[in-house]
Amino acid sequence: MDTPLHWDAIVIGGGAAGLLCAIEAGKRGRRVLVIEHSDRVGKKIAISGGGRCNFTNVHTTPEAFLSANPHFCKSALAGYTPRDFIDLVEKHGIQYHEKKLGQLFCDSSSQQIIDMLLNECSDAGVEIRCSCEVESIAKDDAFQIKTNQGLFSAASLVIAAGGLSIAPLGATDFGYRIAKQFGLQIENARPGLVPLRLDQDLLNKLRKLSGISIDARVSFDRISFRENILITHRGLSGPAILQISSYWRPEEPIVIDLLPDSAAIKLLREHQGTPTELTTLLSRYLPKRFAHAWCELHAISKPLRQYGRRELDGIATKLHQLQITPSGTEGFRKAEVTAGGVSTTELSSQTMEARKVPGLYFIGEVVDVTGHLGGFNFQWAWASGYAAGRSV
Ligand code: FDA
Repeated sequence: MDTPLHWDAIVIGGGAAGLLCAIEAGKRGRRVLVIEHSDRVGKKIAISGGGRCNFTNVHTTPEAFLSANPHFCKSALAGYTPRDFIDLVEKHGIQYHEKKLGQLFCDSSSQQIIDMLLNECSDAGVEIRCSCEVESIAKDDAFQIKTNQGLFSAASLVIAAGGLSIAPLGATDFGYRIAKQFGLQIENARPGLVPLRLDQDLLNKLRKLSGISIDARVSFDRISFRENILITHRGLSGPAILQISSYWRPEEPIVIDLLPDSAAIKLLREHQGTPTELTTLLSRYLPKRFAHAWCELHAISKPLRQYGRRELDGIATKLHQLQITPSGTEGFRKAEVTAGGVSTTELSSQTMEARKVPGLYFIGEVVDVTGHLGGFNFQWAWASGYAAGRSV
């Protein structure tokens, strides 16, 4: 049998979390190996933010994350803030801008973030092996990792293999399998930040509206997001829908407020004595095609003076509380993230180390911490990677 090559820490997964973790551990003088099964690291970083990587959000707070334990993310987020990552970006001379709502993007290309991480890895003496397939993991005094490139051992093993979204970019269930192998609980992994599908009947009615975008407030339970929704040929998308999708539960309705800035009943009553048609009035506040389709579905358009008081109340309610029950999501194929994952009850919130398995760490998307849209998921990857990198 081969003598294993020994490392202080092995990180499996060369994505955002794994690379940041490796850099921090390397800077502390640890001998670190990153194992990546794809032919190159950072494939998700490359395509993120439409190719410009929305690398953090300056308004990061724990409230922007979902988890069975909403407090878990606090320590890591406090230990490595958006400012820390911005300092790194500035140190490398990468130009960036705020697009909206605190979202920071590269001016030029996501590749700059990957190059920055690779340069930092190189400075910290981190070795990276791509196209390296893990065949098995065992633990005695150290972790023994059998791969297609040989046998490696390490005192600390960091699982940074990400979630299930977008398999062509390297996503696998590897992290969950390793968690199960070591007896750790998993919170049901499900698609997050994902378009929602509508049943065929409703799609047929909305067919003509495909491509229309509306500024709306979308709610589920007591959570709501005010951003655009986009009608597509398969259902609903756009930032407000992606955000609410992470909270949505199958077979339950989402509620859409189509006039979030106006009191619909006031608008309707103001025009009640006039010959103005309902569609004409609504077209002042909503895209014209949408206003027409909405009337076809929910109210017969006629001059407003022909409506009774009760009818107007009903119309106003429907404008503010349009209930739609999606038939499903577009699944991991289209999901930006995986919600759920390795249960936070199994991990130290300070270091990300598994309580039951000393030396085993889980970081990034594989953990049951999922950010809202807008740079929060990378911030979690950096922060959880940093926490583990300080500990391994
Ligand atoms: P990540 O998935 O980045 O990395 C995991 C790595 O492990 C991959 O390189 C994978 O190949 C590797 N791996 C998996 N199994 C393995 C195995 N068995 N052996 C070895 N290696 C293995 N977020 C954000 O904040 N801003 C944004 O702009 C975007 N944009 C965006 C666009 C799109 C299209 C998607 C799909 C996602 C985003 N995200 C985002 C989300 C963000 O990309 C995601 O949250 C982070 O990449 C998670 O970082 P991780 O390092 O945890 O996983």
